This record gives sequence, structure tokens and C-alpha cells, in this order.
Amino acid sequence: MRSHYCGEVDQTLEGQHVELAGWVHRRRDHGGVIFVDLRDREGLVQVVFDPDNAEIFRLAEAIRSEYVLHVHGRVRPRPEGTVNDKLPSGRVEVLAERLEVINRAETPPIHLDETDVGEELRLKYRYIDLRRPQMQHNLMLRARVTRLLRRFLDDQGFVDVETPVLTRATPEGARDYLVPSRTHPGEFFALPQSPQLFKQLLMMSGMDRYYQIVRCFRDEDLRADRQPEFTQLDIETAFMDEDDITVLMERMIRELFREVLDVDLGEPFPRMTYAEAVQRFGVDRPDLRIPLELVEVSDLLASVEFKVFSGPANDPAGRVAAMRIPGGGSLTRREIDAYTDYVGRYGAKGLAYIKINDPAAGMDGLQSPILKFLPEAAVTGILDRCQAQAGDLVVFGADRAGIVNDALGALRVKVGHDLGLVEAGWRPLWVVDFPMFEWDEKEKRWFALHHPFTAPSVADAEALASDPGSALSRAYDLVLNGTEVGGGSIRIHDREMQSAAFRVLGIGEEEAQEKFGFLLEALRYGCPPHGGIAFGLDRLVMLMAGAGSIREVMAFPKTQSASCPLTGAPGPASPAQLRELGLKLRGNT
Ligand code: AMO
Ligand code: AMP
Repeated sequence: MRSHYCGEVDQTLEGQHVELAGWVHRRRDHGGVIFVDLRDREGLVQVVFDPDNAEIFRLAEAIRSEYVLHVHGRVRPRPEGTVNDKLPSGRVEVLAERLEVINRAETPPIHLDETDVGEELRLKYRYIDLRRPQMQHNLMLRARVTRLLRRFLDDQGFVDVETPVLTRATPEGARDYLVPSRTHPGEFFALPQSPQLFKQLLMMSGMDRYYQIVRCFRDEDLRADRQPEFTQLDIETAFMDEDDITVLMERMIRELFREVLDVDLGEPFPRMTYAEAVQRFGVDRPDLRIPLELVEVSDLLASVEFKVFSGPANDPAGRVAAMRIPGGGSLTRREIDAYTDYVGRYGAKGLAYIKINDPAAGMDGLQSPILKFLPEAAVTGILDRCQAQAGDLVVFGADRAGIVNDALGALRVKVGHDLGLVEAGWRPLWVVDFPMFEWDEKEKRWFALHHPFTAPSVADAEALASDPGSALSRAYDLVLNGTEVGGGSIRIHDREMQSAAFRVLGIGEEEAQEKFGFLLEALRYGCPPHGGIAFGLDRLVMLMAGAGSIREVMAFPKTQSASCPLTGAPGPASPAQLRELGLKLRGNT
């Protein structure tokens, strides 16, 4: 039904006859002439209905937004003064010669030009929302990204293998989505949080290089960059170490950005240890575009009277850090109070600060509610270490290290955006040398920072068991502009070591057998050294599209409360279905 897409009609077609099909974006009447912006996947073109052609003019009068049209017409230059340089088709218009109204549309609940439409409405009428040029662009960009990633991996000898969706739990730190089994009443499948165990088994079966673009399911709190079902580019290799893997993956990402965005990400991507990232930026996924850093000042404050500082400064689990905000001296009291509330969300009990008005005037050139508690030597020491200058603001966090890092790490990003300090461009970063385990004070047990199959960089199982807290893992995360876009590791391929890791995590012999017996058994039959990585495809595309949320690059995402306003999922099951599954609802009890 078409010779060209609407968006393809331009000056090169002047004088030619075209056949178009698409939606009415807008209709305008101008002194007896009707203009319709006809829209399809590739863009807009202006179609003109002239009253001289009375038959189709009458049809055109009844046209409304989102009607579906089939138009034949001739391309002609737009009259002087009506050229629209923003559109590729903006120098021409199509004079309609034939018109077929294929379908009518009721007034759509979403106006495509409106930018401020509620999320709920957008998701309920997603098929209309997806007509927006930006959404069409995002989905096409996503398709292009997956195509290029596949091509790269195919060329490198990776084999695309599918793994089950109905399976057993794979621990990646979230809750599982469960599916009741009809044939095994009272038993459940879990939807995979990742294909982690299957890809490891594929290495044991000699597949050597595996990849899959695969849906993963995690029942966790949702945020802008988290959805309950999302897509990983999942990769695993045998006989490659962390350097081999990160170098190859880096090449893939670099080529992707070059081909899709014409951006050079630089070579090689910098590497930073987990410890350094947390020390300098408070988080393990620092946004390096923001030129603010946490500065350790515990040593300068250990012997001051001010307990708010000296307490954490003398506590091995505490931290006192300062952060210089260039030009922050102009922040008002109210703005600083708002930042104090902001860090409060992360558990900080306050936000001490010093305004630097005139550094040459010593203590008199400073303004701060805490100066009276601090000796001059400590203050000069802090300002020196932060390299504070006139007009700056220095803020402080003093608490348990975790709270200081979370609070100042988040404040760093917020202030960076608020004050327009975020530098342009792309800042990739490998974060390495993660601790294997993290101690949870509340639950009094160790947790795996990655997953329990990550190899530690210790000599043997005994070393791991004797001092789990100081073991580092052979894991690596790829961070891009403050978003964790991928994570992976070298895996344990030794049965003893795997059992030791389970034991540290409090997974007893019996539980290990019950949950991961198949993996432990597989490790008996000739397991090669192996490792891999998984990229969050949605996050990668979100960044490449410049979108604020992964929902903008997914066709049919879920709401913040993990539901689908379009289909009404999740929905109730009928009594008959429940009976068949051997399930009985408890109601609210
Ligand atoms: P991980 O749990 O780090 O590793 O997940 C890999 C990447 O997936 C993305 N991601 C998500 N994206 C959207 N919504 C979510 N809820 C979500 N959760 C994670 C992130 C993350 O970096 N099996 C390991 C990988 C491996 O070791 O090879 C794994 O799943 O971008
Ligand atoms: P206070 O003596 O509690 O009134 O605190 C004096 C200043 O220190 C105020 O500006 C508080 O916001 C700040 N403050 C209090 N507790 C902390 C903390 N744990 N970390 C950083 N600043 C704090």
C-alpha cells in the first residue's frame, strides 16, 4: 500500500507520484485548504487537500487525529515561507490525488504531542503511546543494538543457546517469581533471575562460548532502572580469564557505541577497585562525569571535642568524610536544609558544612555552625586536604561508614545534577576486586556480593573458610555514567571451593544438595575453568537513547507496583484453575 514511508518523502522526490499509508498526526484547515500531517514509523509528511478536487476534499473534511489513511499524491515544493527545516520532509508537501480512509479513530486518550502524560495512562494505552516518534525511535534503536551485539558475538564464535524459563531458583539476591506445577501438586517452578547455572553447565558440556538475549525475572523493589522482567545479554566462556573476558567485552561495547552513536569510548576502559570507588565516591558504580569526591578526614578529627565527628573518627566501623562543592558557597540556608533532609533518607543524622567566603581571612573568612566546636588546626587541615577555595562549600558526613558512603555518595550525584556540574560525554569504568562476602549485622550472616558461584582470589577452600571477610572475588562490573550496565566473574570450578563458599553463606550440606546438588555433581565430571558476564540490555539501551528510565526502551513494561495496566496482569485465577493446581487461597489471613 505504499511506495515510500512518510518520513522518506523529501526534495529528491519532487514532481514524483507517491503512495503513502499512515496515521493522521494533525489536521489543519487553512482558508479552504486542508493540511494533514501524515505519520508513520519513519516520520511525518504534509499532505494537502485542495478544494478543486471536491470529492476527496469532502472526505478530508471528516478526517480526525489518528485516522488511518491511504493517500496517492504528487510531491511538490512547499510555498515560500512555509518550509519547516526541522523535518526531513519539511521542504515539500504531497498534493493528494486519491484518498482512502482505511479506519477511523475515536479521540485518543493520549495526545501524542503532549509530553506530560501520566505513566499509568501511557501504559494502559501503550499501543498509542508507542506511536510517539520518540518511542518508535527507542524501540528501533534497541533492535539495532541487539542486532549489532549478536553480530559481534556470532563473529567471535559465540553460540546462541536457549535455557529454560520454568526452572529452579537461581540466587541473584531478589525474590523469585513462582509458578505452581499442576503435575506435581504443592510444588513450584521458579522463573530464572538469570540463566547463571545453566550457562555454567553449558561450559561443562564443552560449548566453550555461549550467549543469549534472555528474559530474567526478579521480584524486587522497582526503580527507574529496574523492572521485574528485564533482558540480559548473557555470556559465558571457558578457558578465558578475567583479562581475556573484559578485553573482549570492552571491544564489543566500544564497537557498539561507535556504530550506533558514532561515539569513541576510548581504550582501554579505566579500572578501579571496589575499595577505591567506595572511598572516593561512596558507591561501587561511580558516575565519573561528576567532579566531586569524598575526602577522608577521620584522622584530622579523631581528637576534637565535637563528639559528632570524634565518635565515628575513632570507630573502626565509622567514617568522617568531607566533600568540596565548588561554588557551593552561594547555596542558601534553605537549599542546604533541603540537602540535609535528602541525606537523612540515607540514615545521615545531619549535614555539617563550612562556607568558604575568604580563605585569606583565616577562621573569620568562614561561615559554619560547627566552627565553634573545632580547633583551627583541624579546620585548616580539612580545607587544605579538600583544596577548598573562595566561594566553595564543604559538607561532612560522620557516622558508620556505610551510612556516610550512601549519604554522601547520593548527595554527590544530586548536587552534581542540581549545580550543572555533570560533564558531557561517556565515562565507562570497570570496577574490580570486590569483596567476596558482606557481613549483615542484622541477620548476623555473610552475604555474597555477587552470586555464590563467583570465584574468590584465594589459594584454596581452607583459606576462604578461615577468613571470608578479607577474601576478594574475581568479579568485574561495567559501570557507565553511574549506571551498572553489566556484571560478571570467573566462576568456581572446583567442588571443594564451591562447598566452602556455600558453607560461608550458611547454606548447609543438606540445603546445598537440595538446591544445587546438580551443580555440585556436575563439578565432579570434568569442569573447565570458566567465567562470563551479563549486561542489562534495557539499561544499556536506556543510556544510549538518553532516556530517563528503562521503561522508555521496553515495549510493554510494568508499573512501579509491578502490574500491567494494559492487560490487567496480574489477575485472579478461577476456582477451577486453583483446584487443578492444588492451591487454596488464604485470603487476608
Ligand atoms: P547481575 O545480577 O549483576 O548479574 O545482572 C546483570 C545485569 O543485569 C541488569 N539488571 C537489571 N536490569 C533491569 N532490571 C533489573 N531488575 C535488573 N537486575 C539486573 C544490570 C546488571 O548489571 N548471572 C549474573 C551475571 C554473571 O555473573 O555472568 C547476573 O545476573 O545491568
Ligand atoms: P548538632 O550539634 O547536632 O546540632 O550538629 C551540628 C551540625 O552538625 C549541624 O549542621 C548538623 O547538621 C551536623 N551534623 C550532625 N550530625 C551529623 C553527622 N552524623 N554527620 C554530619 N553532620 C552532622
